[in-house]
Amino acid sequence: MSKSVVLSSQILSRPWARYAFALLATAMAVLARFALNPVLGDYLPYITFFPVVAFSAWYCGVIPSILVTISSLMAAQYWFIPPTHSFRILNTEQLAGIVAFSLVSLVIVAMGEAMRRNAEVLREAQGELEERVQERTAQLDTANQSLRELTARLLQLQDDERRRIARELHDSVGQLLAGLTMNLSAVGADIERLIKTANMVTDSAALVHEINKEVRTISHLLHPPLLDEAGLASALRWYIEGFAERSKIKVDLEFPEDFGRLSRELETAIFRTVQECLTNIHRHAESPIAKIRITRTSSDVRVQVADGGKGISPEKQEEMATIGTPGVGIRGMRERLRQLGGTLDINSTGKGTVVVARLPILSNSATAAA
Ligand SMILES: Nc1ncnc2c1ncn2[C@@H]1O[C@H](COP(=O)(O)OP(=O)(O)OP(=O)(O)O)[C@@H](O)[C@H]1O
Ligand SMILES: [Mg+2]
Repeated sequence: MSKSVVLSSQILSRPWARYAFALLATAMAVLARFALNPVLGDYLPYITFFPVVAFSAWYCGVIPSILVTISSLMAAQYWFIPPTHSFRILNTEQLAGIVAFSLVSLVIVAMGEAMRRNAEVLREAQGELEERVQERTAQLDTANQSLRELTARLLQLQDDERRRIARELHDSVGQLLAGLTMNLSAVGADIERLIKTANMVTDSAALVHEINKEVRTISHLLHPPLLDEAGLASALRWYIEGFAERSKIKVDLEFPEDFGRLSRELETAIFRTVQECLTNIHRHAESPIAKIRITRTSSDVRVQVADGGKGISPEKQEEMATIGTPGVGIRGMRERLRQLGGTLDINSTGKGTVVVARLPILSNSATAAA
């Protein structure tokens, strides 16, 4: 049905084709009837034209079908109904045949037209249906398109949102965290600095302690407090202990138990003499030992400092006696003793040096006068 509908619609769509098909079919019916002529003779002259009428009624429309009916009547009358090659009608039978063919053809044409119209209606309905389907398809396509666009927009919005959140995170939390990190590193640096400062404070405290010790030592060496308060023996022991420790020279002190106290000038002079002698031993004698012997009589004090070092060369002794020594140690000792009425003797050989200082125990005024 659908195929015939398609064919009829194709034929009906071109008017000239409808007429051409109708005439062509008629010609073919004529030829077919000619082919049947040996068998049928003048019997059933319209036999091959019925299918042509039916065909044109179905596919070609009313007017071509009427045209086919008329041309079929004429062709049958001319070629197949005696007398042939003439349109003359001999009897009522032939007339009845013409009428019957015409009526049957009319019926076929009417039926064909009705069916064709039905088919046309169906075709239109189908067309409408197809149109609606196409419309729906287009609507669906549009919906799909909008859905795709919506999806794309959603994805883009999602991306934008993510980008915005990322930027917000970076700009707010990120910056805050960066600030916090900077603060923490500053605190870390502060802690490190504090640790360093604490170490420096500890070091400084140690230095202050050392400086204090040094200052005390220097101060004590400049003027030992023990000398005034505890007397010569204590001051000498304190000094010798420190000297032995610093110089690694073994120092032996001989000091009488009943020595008693002397004037401040005498005690200072004796202490300074021992101090200078020990310093000289440490600096010049290269002796591992030093021996100090202090004795007193009622009238004077004798201080002897000896070492086992290399001694003072005769040239040096000559130099010291004539033009003075490069140092002021011995000269200073001698001068101090001289002011107190005392003397200084130096006896030096290759086996060591012995320095002897003698001081009279007199009153200060008498000494100054002397
Ligand atoms: N115990 C000693 N053993 C060897 N040489 C000594 C000894 N004492 C002094 N001398 C020599 O005598 C010189 C003079 O000594 P002195 O004490 O006058 O000067 P100094 O020790 O060199 O310098 P300073 O003025 O600092 O005392 C020294 O340079 C040294 O050569
Ligand atoms: Mg000296």
